Amino acid sequence: MFNINCAICHGDKLDGNGPLYKGGNGPYAAAPAQLVGNPKYMTMPEGTMFHSVTYGKNMMGSYASQLSRKQRWMIIYYIKSKQAGAGATTATADTTAKPAAATATPAMK
Ligand code: HEC
Repeated sequence: MFNINCAICHGDKLDGNGPLYKGGNGPYAAAPAQLVGNPKYMTMPEGTMFHSVTYGKNMMGSYASQLSRKQRWMIIYYIKSKQAGAGATTATADTTAKPAAATATPAMK
């Protein structure tokens, strides 16, 4: 789902360099967030991400009409699992860090 909706800008490696952007040479001028690699996004709380995906953030539009609430959460958990795989500490209130695989199950909020 991420690859269909988000990777065109954010990249399938979540490095902020998808085909629409291509390091500034693509048709889309605004730099997409480097979801894996940039500490700002590596530690961004899930709720903040969910909010940005739901309501949009500057140049990125809202996904509330394209993706259901459940789908949006599934994508956020996908991002978080990729970040955990890249060594990020997930910024959740739960500091008793479970293994990433255990927290990757979407818990509906
Ligand atoms: C058309 C290109 C484009 C697509 C498609 C896109 N994004 Fe983004 N995204 C951006 C840009 C540009 C930013 C940086 C916005 C800013 O901070 O000004 C961004 C920022 C973000 C952020 C950080 C938000 C914040 O609060 O700073 C998250 C999380 C994110 N995108 C997730 C997603 C997800 C999940 C999808 C798919 C459902 C998606 N994006 C699809 C361009 C895109």
